Amino acid sequence: MPLTAVPQSRRNAMHNQNALKIGLFGANCSSGRAVTLVPERWSGNWQDNLALVKMADEAGIDFMLPIGRWKGYGGDTDYQGATYETITWASGLLASSKRITVFGTVHAPLFNPIIAAKMMMTADHIGQGRFGLNIVCGWNEDEFEMFGVSQRDHERRYEFAQEWWNAVQLAWSDQENFNYKGEHLDLKGIRAKPKPYGGSRPVVMNAGASANGRQFAINNCDAFFTRADRDSLPETKSRVQGFKAQARELGRDMDCYTVGVVTCRPTKKEATDYYTHTVIENADWNAVDGILKKKNLSVETVGEEAFQRHRRHYANGMGGYPLVGDPDQIASELADLAGAGLRGIAVSFVNYLDELPYFVDEVIPRLRKMGLRE
Ligand SMILES: Cc1cc2nc3c(=O)[nH]c(=O)nc-3n(C[C@H](O)[C@H](O)[C@H](O)COP(=O)(O)O)c2cc1C
Repeated sequence: MPLTAVPQSRRNAMHNQNALKIGLFGANCSSGRAVTLVPERWSGNWQDNLALVKMADEAGIDFMLPIGRWKGYGGDTDYQGATYETITWASGLLASSKRITVFGTVHAPLFNPIIAAKMMMTADHIGQGRFGLNIVCGWNEDEFEMFGVSQRDHERRYEFAQEWWNAVQLAWSDQENFNYKGEHLDLKGIRAKPKPYGGSRPVVMNAGASANGRQFAINNCDAFFTRADRDSLPETKSRVQGFKAQARELGRDMDCYTVGVVTCRPTKKEATDYYTHTVIENADWNAVDGILKKKNLSVETVGEEAFQRHRRHYANGMGGYPLVGDPDQIASELADLAGAGLRGIAVSFVNYLDELPYFVDEVIPRLRKMGLRE
């Protein structure tokens, strides 16, 4: 039976016309992105993920973005110690939803590209064209050691990822029998059927922070996740414009997204109090210190002041843009981010299921009035 055509533009727009896309980030991991001891922190279990995708789908949330994480960060909660493998997780969520785009986060060096292409194509058929791919090229060294894989230096890491992505795209193309030989990959007699749903490929994103990572996104991705700084929106704007212009020079249309951490309550005071309670007074500081150690951030390497800044930054959703306030404030800050040229934001909450309904009831209608949501 022929599959319904899904134009690439429709996939890139995540199947709707929302000017500011909103996604949920990190729900496949225990504690999500809140490095906190509070008992209501996110379980990350399947029942909660399933309830969340149904709630988000119903509410018109655009996407869910998981974290490809293989090993907890330790601390008192073993932060992100229990995680679902993301393509499997996405397949389950796609089978249980109708509109939302669900990403899988794939570490290119850990997955054979032809197997990965097939796994993703399967998820894409289950979701009838709603699967998205986050390509991760390498991040936490100790995770790679667990697989007996050593991490390449930055340049080689992204060179490898380019070959990996070329091979995946070929497997998804009309080619029937082919070889692929690069510097890192030598694949012979490839056959890969069926192809992704409806004759186009899944939307693809990357969040590299280095120059090589950024260039990889500009060369290949539909969505590039980049940092937005609360104190420097004009700078965010000029960076976003710059990235998009570089992609356009290559004839590519690339959108920029960012990551946020939402604490939305009826009053500013309630929001600030809850934020202080969760990510300051009750932060899992042992886990935060473990994260910093992995990144070689210590008083000795960066000095006391910067170290304390990094500690606060990582306790707060591993460094996402903090959105703390009442619905008016959150909506206006989101509008500012959209004004800076960002096409969307992936947000997290301490407990997604408890907090999403208030956000949907109060913030989304304000964004709609501002013309940012359908
Ligand atoms: C939105 C976002 C999602 C990310 N997801 C993951 C992930 O799931 N797993 C992972 O190991 N790294 C993840 N990363 C890390 C990036 O892929 C990247 O490795 C990191 O930003 C460092 O950039 P670089 O590779 O250019 O040095 C993510 C980063 C961001 C901002």
